[in-house]
Amino acid sequence: MLFRRDKTLLGLNIGSGYIKIVELKDSGSVHTLSSFGLAALPPDAIVDGTIMDASAIVNAIINLAANLKVKKKRISTSISGHSVIIKKITLPLMDENTIEETIHQEATQHIPYDISDVNLDFQILGPNADNSDNMDIILVAVKKDTINDYLTLVEMAGFTPVVVDVDTFALENTFEHNYEDNGKKIVALIDIGANLTCINILDDGVTCFSRNITSGSRVITEQLQKQFSLSYEQAELLKMGSPENFADDITVAISAIKEAAFPLINEIIKAIDFFHTSAVADGRIEKIVLSGGGAKTFNIIKDIKNKSGIETELVDPFRNIMVPEKYFDLEYIREIGPIAAVATGLALRKDEVS
Ligand SMILES: Nc1ncnc2c1ncn2[C@@H]1O[C@H](COP(=O)(O)OP(=O)(O)OP(=O)(O)O)[C@@H](O)[C@H]1O
Ligand SMILES: [Mg+2]
Repeated sequence: MLFRRDKTLLGLNIGSGYIKIVELKDSGSVHTLSSFGLAALPPDAIVDGTIMDASAIVNAIINLAANLKVKKKRISTSISGHSVIIKKITLPLMDENTIEETIHQEATQHIPYDISDVNLDFQILGPNADNSDNMDIILVAVKKDTINDYLTLVEMAGFTPVVVDVDTFALENTFEHNYEDNGKKIVALIDIGANLTCINILDDGVTCFSRNITSGSRVITEQLQKQFSLSYEQAELLKMGSPENFADDITVAISAIKEAAFPLINEIIKAIDFFHTSAVADGRIEKIVLSGGGAKTFNIIKDIKNKSGIETELVDPFRNIMVPEKYFDLEYIREIGPIAAVATGLALRKDEVS
């Protein structure tokens, strides 16, 4: 065959702060960015991972896709938050078919939901380091109700949902595609969103620890709103470094941002410390890679680096993806890149059906 058919899907990340869309072209040897954009959601459209205002989200998806003139109709999207549980568990050595048969029974001990209410999946990690009669697996459970809610949203927006992934694994996919050669054994991927911070620790490229912190960059917006009597939109702009209409001294705003980010940074450090003292840690974290809009918070990279003592950097989701200068403002793409990390991992997913 002369031309390889592009099988990548349209990546749609429905975040509680922003909808993100990434469209790629896969020509076999190289992936090229064909569209990227984001659209803000009203602050109460998604609360605690629950869809509260479906029509606002559907409209945002329709408008964003129209503005970007996306071509693909088949979508890969993802879920995060309390509807997703990712756990490393240990089982006696058995083959994959036996795991399939016993996983429901096993999962009842690890999942706080009724097993009939979740979709279960697993990945075999390998033999257990302490007991070679046992094996480690990663168990993933996602609430069926939430999957259905997301499928409905995508369909209402006129698209075909093909893959419903988990934010954590989409991020892992982005990292894998872009940082194959990073040379570090244990890497922590930390995505700081508007309302959720996902920590995913990879050991030799495979998840060995996953934890959510139910807080994100929105707490900073709320602090700025309160402290300076601003609207949500004004506080968002101030946080992003556009202090138009901001009458007070900007240095006061900067210290307010730093102070509001402090509890979240502490939670991140606590999770890292917890990992280091846990049984799953097979060494120390060698690098932290930050993503999500919250990773753009003033000074946060430096603060996390100093407090953890670990090399910390911002993700570049397009490191191994061609971004044509003719169609994109490269400076803007570099600035906004970290927000696109989950959507890029979704856009790299292959359409195995069509
Ligand atoms: N340049 C910036 N500086 C500071 N904060 C920023 C910047 N850009 C975006 N943010 C913040 O990042 C957050 C949005 O990030 P992101 O799009 O990753 O979250 P989300 O996926 O919508 O949320 P969640 O994953 O928690 O549901 C918002 O709170 C926004 O204010
Ligand atoms: Mg997000």
